[in-house]
Amino acid sequence: MPAPSLPEQITKYLTDAHSIEEQALAQMERAPGMAGDPELGRIYAEHREETRDHERAVRDELHRRGAEPSTVKDVAGKVGGWGMVLFARLNPDTPGKLAVHAYSYEHMELAAYELLRRMAERDGDESVRALAQRIAAQERAMADRIAQRWDRAVDASLKEKDAADLGKEVVKYLRDAHAIEGQAVQLLEAGPKLAADFPELATVFEEHLGQTREHQRLVDERLEQLGSGPARFQAGALRVGALNLGAFFKLQPDTPIKLAGFAFAFEALETAAYEMLARTAERAGDTQTAELARRINGEERAAAEKVSGTWDAAVDAVARERVGAAS
Ligand SMILES: [Fe+2]
Ligand SMILES: [Fe+2]
Ligand SMILES: [Fe+2]
Repeated sequence: MPAPSLPEQITKYLTDAHSIEEQALAQMERAPGMAGDPELGRIYAEHREETRDHERAVRDELHRRGAEPSTVKDVAGKVGGWGMVLFARLNPDTPGKLAVHAYSYEHMELAAYELLRRMAERDGDESVRALAQRIAAQERAMADRIAQRWDRAVDASLKEKDAADLGKEVVKYLRDAHAIEGQAVQLLEAGPKLAADFPELATVFEEHLGQTREHQRLVDERLEQLGSGPARFQAGALRVGALNLGAFFKLQPDTPIKLAGFAFAFEALETAAYEMLARTAERAGDTQTAELARRINGEERAAAEKVSGTWDAAVDAVARERVGAAS
């Protein structure tokens, strides 16, 4: 089977974007009722309207290109569904989990549109370029709105759990952090092989793998100081088993470019988890854990920046391949 041309590849990415928006819409319809806080509820409701517009705009663009969006039902069975890979096992059912999930999901959307915009630029497709730019700006703004409200998310979560013992909550978040770092290690260990033709990303992964192992060790150490083990099979506060690695490894030829998108969203998930941990620890008077969480978070943010710094190279590699395939 010949490799698809660049316009065909763009159509495929629009189809992916459409399924991402359908999944986002399902979440944003439930989110206001689960927000646990009026301000968070308001921003979810606002973004629900934006998401409706995104779904419609991407669908219109697909029609313009003579393509049909696949329905969520179709996508659920395919490993190509972005959200199915990253969020398959994450069902947000508490205000804190919802905020963490939403923050990471917005970053996944942002990555998808940033990659799409770059592809459209390479292809001189102004219509898709402008669409991707417009939506990306709204996804970024939504992520920022959530980030301005971590305190509310923490308060709503603690209220809901009626957490008399804040120390226990800190331990739960630390256990989540431990589990998330474990997943990050798996992703980063596999990443360089998946991104073998994409040295820019492989290098970022290798660098962050060392940091990630150290994060996990530090979290482990802190849990021991608090008299608890990581309890790998015990539920934490977030219970984030976010990454469906099995589905991930089955991804097809455009893996490196998607990998660059997923890794960005995964770093955002880590950031969100540490934002919650730091604040919960502060409320518990556990400054040592709070400081640890903030320090690690700085490295997660830096890693996300570095991942997004590979996007131009990722899209150039794909564009080169497609042009080569077309000639
Ligand atoms: Fe969206
Ligand atoms: Fe969004
Ligand atoms: Fe990380």
